[in-house]
Amino acid sequence: MPIVTIVGAGVIGISWARLFAGAGWEVRVSDPRPDLEQALQGIDAAAVADLAEALRDADFVQENGPERMELKRTLLNAAAEHAKGDAILASSTSSLLPSALSEGNPAADRILVGHPFNPPELMPLVEIVPSPATSPEVVERAYAVYESLGRQPVRLKQEIRGFVGNRLQKVFAEQASYLVQQGIIEPGELDTLVRNSLGLRWATIGPFESRHLGGGPGGIRHLAANVGSQMNFENGMPDPALNEKVFESVEAAYGTGVDSYRELAERRDRRTRAILAALKEADEQED
Ligand SMILES: NC(=O)c1ccc[n+]([C@@H]2O[C@H](COP(=O)([O-])OP(=O)(O)OC[C@H]3O[C@@H](n4cnc5c(N)ncnc54)[C@H](O)[C@@H]3O)[C@@H](O)[C@H]2O)c1
Repeated sequence: MPIVTIVGAGVIGISWARLFAGAGWEVRVSDPRPDLEQALQGIDAAAVADLAEALRDADFVQENGPERMELKRTLLNAAAEHAKGDAILASSTSSLLPSALSEGNPAADRILVGHPFNPPELMPLVEIVPSPATSPEVVERAYAVYESLGRQPVRLKQEIRGFVGNRLQKVFAEQASYLVQQGIIEPGELDTLVRNSLGLRWATIGPFESRHLGGGPGGIRHLAANVGSQMNFENGMPDPALNEKVFESVEAAYGTGVDSYRELAERRDRRTRAILAALKEADEQED
């Protein structure tokens, strides 16, 4: 049975642990949090407080510590020292460059970013981001591991801060905040708008295919010359000084605190599962 060590058991690490365990891996989880055992309840995974011990003989390491460069470097150095000599060392980081994470690490050729979307056990995408030092063979092996977990890995050709998913998300989040700050729309209405248009569209076909279809038989060229020709306005950027107002209106729309979080996260996961099941069924009918 292959061994995975999950380093860091917060929102992301716990979900990876459940995913690997469900796929038949021996799962060890290391995190200094005092309630680690409790956090792993219902997951077939061992809580191992000592990091070196958790890493011993690991075939795969998924690092999910806090988003701090120095701490992540320390964790990856420990992984290089204690995991198997050919183990893949993957970081879940949302934006840090793998070349920076692996600086001075003797296992730099085995380090890459395996960036999930939250929660990794449900969201199919894993962005695989190699540094210039990452061996292509390691990228291939990481791809195969994530695929065997039922994920949809996508390989970036080169590293870039924020990778692809979060660069796109950043542009979108900035414009959404800008529109709320300008008094154009409330957050709840913006969410309704997106769920019933772009969100639904992008769950079925991506933005490029969508644009290509939007132009009719003339494709993306026709769309660019027609509708696109009038999209010549500046988007504008949100004012950081007005963020507090945006936060307040989001909290007013969705509530705060543990109970509200649990309820909303459950609804999110239920709906995500429903969409994934419906897409699977539609694709099976097509085959
Ligand atoms: N939350 C998201 O939506 C999301 C999505 C994709 C990727 N990520 C990335 O995943 C990583 C973890 O994010 P999160 O949201 O789970 O954060 P989190 O704060 O929920 O969890 C971080 C965990 O790291 C633990 N930790 C602290 N010091 C440690 C150490 N020395 N050794 C081991 N564990 C230690 C903490 O106790 C905590 O449980 C980050 O790099 C983040 O960028 C987060």
